[in-house]
Amino acid sequence: MKRKLIIAANWKMNKGPAETTEFIESFLPGSEELSESCDIIIAPPYVSLPVAASLLVDSPVALSAQNVSEQDEGAFTGEVATRMLNEVGAQYVILGHSERRAIYGESDEFINAKVRKALTAGLVPIFCIGETLEERESGELEEVLRAQVSGGLADLTVEDMAEVVVAYEPVWAIGTGVTATPDQAQEAHAFVRTLLGDQFGAEVAAATRIQYGGSVKPGNSAELMAQTDIDGALVGGASLEAGSFRDLIANAVV
Ligand code: PGA
Repeated sequence: MKRKLIIAANWKMNKGPAETTEFIESFLPGSEELSESCDIIIAPPYVSLPVAASLLVDSPVALSAQNVSEQDEGAFTGEVATRMLNEVGAQYVILGHSERRAIYGESDEFINAKVRKALTAGLVPIFCIGETLEERESGELEEVLRAQVSGGLADLTVEDMAEVVVAYEPVWAIGTGVTATPDQAQEAHAFVRTLLGDQFGAEVAAATRIQYGGSVKPGNSAELMAQTDIDGALVGGASLEAGSFRDLIANAVV
């Protein structure tokens, strides 16, 4: 079964409302054609979501947040609730990104609470997993991915899982310019699909879209997206400039 490509721009802590406006105005022309064979998503910082939402109305580009609270509302200084993301028009939310795990200490259990909260609110989680270089080199790749998948997706039903997008991002390839080779990435994706099959059954595993992330750029997107089990990309650095993000998608969809 052919899964539709899904490519997301993860801007991380870049682009306030002014730069977001500039990017979207430059990116939108031509995006209609690209979106025929690829779901396109932009994930700006929270403060830029409202302006992005207003510019993306009636466009084929969807909006994502980069995080969300596991709580509903109340005394949680600095947090943003799912309902607020619904209100500003976000459809997706990136959860469990390695920077959240490594810098802010988010555990599999905590990420799982966020995934479940997002699903309840009708937001599509882009659920991130991936190993560090040390883990890969010491032969723990499969163990790490197994723990992240079983912990982060715990207590989800088959119906829930049908809504989830998975992003495999080897930590050593994020922002480093080092990309996993297409073979390395394919091997890890195939393994993740096996894990999804064990947990949710073959049908869900075959239908789940698994993005690759880690130094994806216009020059390597075609080769990566051509792999059997790679269904899209989560892009940091190369998504910050409209022309580069457009070329990356255009090269991937051919
Ligand atoms: P990168 O980031 O493309 O800059 O490596 C990817 C990510 O962290 O999602």
